[in-house]
Amino acid sequence: METRVIEIDPQNIDMALLRQAAEVINNRGLVAFPTETVYGLGADALDSKAVSGIFQAKKRPLDDPLIVHISTMKELEDLASDVPDIVYKLADRFWPGPLTMVLKKSDRVPDIVTTGLDTVAIRMPSHPIASRFIDMCACPLAAPSANLFSKPSPTTAMHVLQDLEGNVDMILDGGATYIGVESTVIDVSSGPVKVLRPGGVSVEELTSLVGPVEVLSEGAVMERTPGKYPRHYSPNAKVLVVEYGYDQFEKATQAAETLASRGASVGIMASKEHEDLYQGNVKVLGPANDGRICASRLFSILREFDSEKVNYIIAEGIPEKGLGRAVMNRIRKAAGSEEKAEEDMSDMAI
Ligand code: TXA
Ligand code: MG
Repeated sequence: METRVIEIDPQNIDMALLRQAAEVINNRGLVAFPTETVYGLGADALDSKAVSGIFQAKKRPLDDPLIVHISTMKELEDLASDVPDIVYKLADRFWPGPLTMVLKKSDRVPDIVTTGLDTVAIRMPSHPIASRFIDMCACPLAAPSANLFSKPSPTTAMHVLQDLEGNVDMILDGGATYIGVESTVIDVSSGPVKVLRPGGVSVEELTSLVGPVEVLSEGAVMERTPGKYPRHYSPNAKVLVVEYGYDQFEKATQAAETLASRGASVGIMASKEHEDLYQGNVKVLGPANDGRICASRLFSILREFDSEKVNYIIAEGIPEKGLGRAVMNRIRKAAGSEEKAEEDMSDMAI
């Protein structure tokens, strides 16, 4: 199929263009659209056949459940059952926005969306194109990030095109997304609030509203959700993580020199503070203490290094507070897994 790319100004949305996109959805097609976190690949969430197209286009395993995007609370009540009060409290504060809530599902949600689980993940995005688009489709949109399975999530329409050209009907180009990492996924289907994936709403913000929350480890999340695969958000290059700390620059330099002496092409993703200290191919993630800036740049830096065909990316860690927690979660996943990231660094004999 031919992929149509349509530019839409989020500040001045051309409703006629959005109507064309809604027609594609209503004809069981696939439309990639910007959200405040990353671009999503949308299909009518209530139509199994349309949703199966998402899995095919992304080459996504059929046991990795999708998020359903809504624009009104009425849709939440259609899609979920036994909604606890805390959901309204959370929605009041964080919706529309980068928070996904896992709830008991209603019969309306097709099994393919939830991959047979009895829960459904729901999010009300705040990006003006996303919310108008959902309104216009008059159906909720099932939408994972619009990348090929296991590649870094797309933060621009160009990233979507690189991964999915010829496999989606339309891409709505609304410019770069605002946050740059995906939504925070929390389980509110039973018991206390559990964070399944750190993201655009920080753990500190959640805690300030609902009290302490449990942040599940990668292993614990994998046990709960069949489709959680350890290597995710991965560029082609191998990623080595150098943890945040006083000797970070020395460790990273040593790793870079070791790899270069073996003939490898190396890229360094560094904090703003260390930018001028390094030699060679350096890209700046952001000030180490500004998780928000680091989040907005992370995925495009990983993709840039890939387009330069570097063999290794040495990634400086940042403090795990605010959005820094989501950034570190994605960097570790890009490296394979937390355990793998440590092994790789000890291979460098440092
Ligand atoms: O910011 C975002 O969340 C983006 C934009 C497009 O909304 N979407 C996104 O979707 O990142 P995706 O499919 O790449 O990640 C969705 C995550 C997956 O890790 C999936 O396992 C989890 O949500 N998930 C979905 N349904 C679930 C469920 N019923 N129980 C537990 N986890 C679920
Ligand atoms: Mg994804």
